[in-house]
Amino acid sequence: MPLRPADLTRRKQGGLPITMLTAWDALSAAVVASAGVDAVLVGDSLAMVVLGHATTLPVTLEEMLHHCRAAGRGLAAAAPQHPPLLICDLPFLSYQCGADAAVAAAGRVLKETPAVAVKLEGAEPETLAVIDRMVRSGIPVMGHLGLTPQSVHQLGYRRQAGDPVSQERLRRRALALQEAGCFALVIEHVPAELASALSAALVIPVIGIGAGDGCDGQVRVTADLLGLTSRQPPFSPPLMQGRALAVEVLGRWVREQGPAAAPAPATRPAAPAAPHC
Ligand code: KIV
Repeated sequence: MPLRPADLTRRKQGGLPITMLTAWDALSAAVVASAGVDAVLVGDSLAMVVLGHATTLPVTLEEMLHHCRAAGRGLAAAAPQHPPLLICDLPFLSYQCGADAAVAAAGRVLKETPAVAVKLEGAEPETLAVIDRMVRSGIPVMGHLGLTPQSVHQLGYRRQAGDPVSQERLRRRALALQEAGCFALVIEHVPAELASALSAALVIPVIGIGAGDGCDGQVRVTADLLGLTSRQPPFSPPLMQGRALAVEVLGRWVREQGPAAAPAPATRPAAPAAPHC
């Protein structure tokens, strides 16, 4: 049986931690499923991590569907009996242009990919109305507050909710998301005490990134944990230096083949470091 959104609530109720990792294709999904993660997020961070964009804004719904289908195939191959819960991010402007268009976009995720839920950012009144419509249409929705990368041009990548007024605002927004029917909430780059107080106050699971250890669960961008990205956010340090390791072993293989036409790695200009969250 695949995991369902309600299973995450049951884990919270049972005091069990929830783990969620991102995937962007069949290969990465199979790896994180084999690691035993509870939920797999095809996050719109793939715009930066995989597609090379400077922000998450350019990725399209079609691209998200394409990557989500691939991730679903990876999960089916790696964990056919008990696949993790597959969630797909709704990209920028797929849910901000009216409730009908938003429900249609979320519906495409459920119809055209193996994902069983969508995630979207924010809790503006229009967003809450859209979530309500989705939930009443049978579409499970995960919320996302704190650092919301789709608002990078307003918020930057700074830590959010640093003062009492914005903390109270975030608390009210989190409660509104729960009220609107979200089955879980991602909370990114906020003070640990706030995130842990929210986890205690909400019935739905709060899944943190850069939000301390007191959340009901943790989510990370897999490429950050593996050290594959050129630079990781300060709140998501790598567990290994995957990029350097890959360059080293592949470079050794290239050199074993004979003299290279390309300049030696040390003489190449460094790749620009794109911060992402
Ligand atoms: O897009 C993404 O990868 C995310 C995670 C940072 C939670 O939203």
